[in-house]
Amino acid sequence: MQMQFISSSSSPPTIYSTPPSLPPPPNNQTKMPILIIIIIISFLLGYYFFLVLRRRQWGGASPKRRLPPGSMGWPYVGETLKLYTQNPNTFFNIRRKRYGDIFKSHILGCPCVMISSPEAAKIVLVTKSHLFKPTYPPSKEKMIGPEAIFFHQGDYHFTLKKLIQASFSPSAIKGSVTAIEKIVLEFLPNWENCNQVHTLQEMKNYAFDVAMISAFGHKKEIETEGIKCLYHRLEKGYNSMPLDFPGTPYRKAMKARKLLTERLRKLIEKRRESREDGGGGGGLLEIMMKAEKQKLNHNNNNNNNLSDSQIADNIIGVIFAAHDTTASVLTWVLKYLHDNVHVLQAVTREQEDIERKLQLEDNRGLTWEDTRHMFLTTRVIQETLRSASILSFTFREAVEDVEFQGYVIPKGWKVLPLFRTIHHSADFFPQPDKFDPSRFEVPPRPNTYMPFGSGVHSCPGSELAKLEMLIFLHHFTTTYRWKVIGEEDAIQYVPFPVPKGGLPIQIYPK
Ligand code: HEM
Repeated sequence: MQMQFISSSSSPPTIYSTPPSLPPPPNNQTKMPILIIIIIISFLLGYYFFLVLRRRQWGGASPKRRLPPGSMGWPYVGETLKLYTQNPNTFFNIRRKRYGDIFKSHILGCPCVMISSPEAAKIVLVTKSHLFKPTYPPSKEKMIGPEAIFFHQGDYHFTLKKLIQASFSPSAIKGSVTAIEKIVLEFLPNWENCNQVHTLQEMKNYAFDVAMISAFGHKKEIETEGIKCLYHRLEKGYNSMPLDFPGTPYRKAMKARKLLTERLRKLIEKRRESREDGGGGGGLLEIMMKAEKQKLNHNNNNNNNLSDSQIADNIIGVIFAAHDTTASVLTWVLKYLHDNVHVLQAVTREQEDIERKLQLEDNRGLTWEDTRHMFLTTRVIQETLRSASILSFTFREAVEDVEFQGYVIPKGWKVLPLFRTIHHSADFFPQPDKFDPSRFEVPPRPNTYMPFGSGVHSCPGSELAKLEMLIFLHHFTTTYRWKVIGEEDAIQYVPFPVPKGGLPIQIYPK
């Protein structure tokens, strides 16, 4: 329905006009100055309370307590609306130009300091990381599981990190190449029968299947199907408002989360029994089940293993961290290759050379060593990670008042290293808006390239993510051509930035 505005020659009844039935107020002239005085006093009082609120919320700029420059916007609302109604790049760039590499703001109810210099990012993420703890909204923590690695610091985090890294190190994932290749070869032919392929959705399915074998190993078990189903129910509510009422996506997701823990417990139980017969199942689950109690501060279990809920939270956490991220980056790779034909041709040549080699050697499948010879394709992935910067920034929280490059970051304030802003700075990446994989022929300057974060919380899955992208690109570029359909250059946030509509494409066998 369209809204109509009707104009009329007589004045419309507005709140300023006196209703015709009322007599004119007596003594109008003497009342006017009183009214003006009341308005001025109200304005002054309002302004005074505004200043008091600002001071209470964010602390005053006393000489001893020099906050970084910047604007905190309005009390409570801060600059949230500005950030969410304009392109985030514009929001950050305007402030960076106005205030420098460190500036304060107020987003989503939290006072925060944004940092966009490599040196400052290194301090927060690496050298003084103990002063800046990771921080997430409580609803997200509940959904993933409070014992998952993301939410911890110190010994417990260190032990989990070692286990997860062991599971995703190059030597551990080398043996997964054939299983990952099998997933690609099974699902790619299905694309041929579609008029239109929804790239992001297909990449999510692929990355999810890879995450599942990384978490549970290659063995097919009936329990993993149920886990898949419940995980998808959980995911649907992940980005919803945390409204805990019957029927809300949040309530449904939390229900699925509970069932998921139960299913995982059953699977762990089954694996414990089969381990006694020499079976293990593999994947991160097996590595976690082997972890010894004495290494863990948080362990509340009486036997020598990680508690079931610790294992469940971390398995769900890793699947969560692994698949949307990788799927979004792969979607961008296809978009950039489509838009840069000469790069696509060079990548295809590289992959066809490898394909010929495989054919000459008894038509064998890909190996880890083959993927180490995909030099240009690797640079395309590196440049995509820089250019798309799907994680524009991360969140930390100051655990105490921290002296930081001449400023104070008060305890409890959020600190956001702005990865995207650093990746798009012409000082470190000349012509930053150009898609140019050749810039990675020389390594980037230290701390200027952080698609997988940096320091204690950096991504343990970076090698797996790159491996699954290389395997996919080998088969895709040697078998198909593709054309992007529709609005080509718009971006949407789901929650990572991806080409609008999830990049619908049409594919043609070569
Ligand atoms: C292209 C895909 C990926 C990107 C861009 C990515 C990016 C990141 C980034 C930037 C962080 C650090 C966050 C922070 O400092 O707050 C991180 C952490 C993490 N990532 Fe990834 N990631 C990807 C794929 C994966 C995969 C495949 C896995 C699983 C195997 C994984 C598991 C994790 C985990 C467990 C953490 C938390 C580490 C910790 O807190 O110590 N990620 N990821």
